[in-house]
Amino acid sequence: MNRRDVLVSSGAMLGVSCLGGAGYAVATASPGQNLKIQTARYQFRENITEGLVSLSPDSAPPVLYGTQDEPLDLTVSNTLDEYTAMHWHGIRLPNEMDGVPYLTQVPIGGGDSFRYRFTPPDAGTYWYHPHCMTMTQMARGLTGVLVIREREDPGFDGDQAINLKDFRLSNDDALGKAYSLRKAARGGTLGNVMTANWQQAPVYDHPAGGVVRLRVANTDTTRIYRIWLTSADTRVIAWDGHPLLEPVGLPTEQVPMALGPGQRADFAVAMPSAEGRRVQLMAKSVKGPKIMAGLRAVGSGPKRDLNTLKSLPHNPVAEPNLTGAETHEFVFGWSPDGTAPDNGFCGNLGKNFWSINREAWPGDNAKGTGPLAQLKLGRSYVLRLRNESPNLHPIHLHGLTFKPIRSNKRKILANWTDTALLLKDEVIDVAVVADNPGDWAFHCHVIEHQKTGLSGYLRVE
Ligand code: C2O
Ligand code: CU
Ligand code: CU
Repeated sequence: MNRRDVLVSSGAMLGVSCLGGAGYAVATASPGQNLKIQTARYQFRENITEGLVSLSPDSAPPVLYGTQDEPLDLTVSNTLDEYTAMHWHGIRLPNEMDGVPYLTQVPIGGGDSFRYRFTPPDAGTYWYHPHCMTMTQMARGLTGVLVIREREDPGFDGDQAINLKDFRLSNDDALGKAYSLRKAARGGTLGNVMTANWQQAPVYDHPAGGVVRLRVANTDTTRIYRIWLTSADTRVIAWDGHPLLEPVGLPTEQVPMALGPGQRADFAVAMPSAEGRRVQLMAKSVKGPKIMAGLRAVGSGPKRDLNTLKSLPHNPVAEPNLTGAETHEFVFGWSPDGTAPDNGFCGNLGKNFWSINREAWPGDNAKGTGPLAQLKLGRSYVLRLRNESPNLHPIHLHGLTFKPIRSNKRKILANWTDTALLLKDEVIDVAVVADNPGDWAFHCHVIEHQKTGLSGYLRVE
């Protein structure tokens, strides 16, 4: 090993591991991790479903772990015979590690790989997914949770990540077409099998009486998951990765939490003290309330009071200074133009249905198009997100973390986020400090919208 290699590997105490359970001491010393994108098969229902995409031949993409302020080193290799690129959703990282084809990197061809190296400045619940062939590779399963641990153990007795995602399966469990153009022009195409970590109502054991950190990520291409927990002895502690600035009320069956595609919520759950008792994560479905996953108490112990929990340390996100801040408005609506440009190697639905500022944008291939806005490095801005359509749009910005400050429709919570869910005809103003230079993708996270016009980028320089 030369000196540089030694530095690289000793600097990479990164703790990427697939251990999903409790325990904090999983900092594996490793020179990095190889993530191999490959086809997979899996039994969701009666028959085996073939043609999935994952990081192993027969299971869901694993939870990846990193630690705040410690380097992550992830080599993504592509064994498919189509292109890909991996994006680390919600992580503030150097632009060239953002995984957006053409904008930040050349797409990864079959047999090729790309080494992603970045040091996450923020702890919390994030996720990863391809940003090339996004529609088909995500629909085939390639989405996973990325947990960035706090530098200091926040003191939970268990940690559980839940990846909520739909699949579209035929009656004999073959993968169906991920979308229809008719639905892409409206709310998007829903799956017919709702899963948690690719399973139907999986049950996870956690210490009776303990407090579990439940991390729920909606990685679906389309569905706004409406969720709640069956125990009131729980608390929302983080939103889209970041510890709360304003309290989020506990969702119930009557008033569930709307988690749009791309969004995450962390809960602190006080486990029942009696062995075998469960707390269930529920979601609305066409057939009524559906159990997505359960946390089951094992062993016995006195029930820990949620008030004994220390609050999560805040991430170092810069507070926007709104005095004199410029406002940029973005109008999301129908596309005036139904034809779609050639889209390079990253897939295309062949149509434009959606627009930003009345222009259709070219999805995963922004080459040759200008930015939607130019922001000066270090300045604060207000981004006005205006939905001129009856459909809901989870609007996502890469590379920067922002804060909603007002809505024309509702009282909005000023919690840090990377994805704002716009309701019908809603206008949300968000505040942001443009403190990360680069070209940052800015799009709707309903992937059918993203791929049919609703995807541009902002330039920070
Ligand atoms: Cu979650 Cu541009 O992505
Ligand atoms: Cu993203
Ligand atoms: Cu949309």
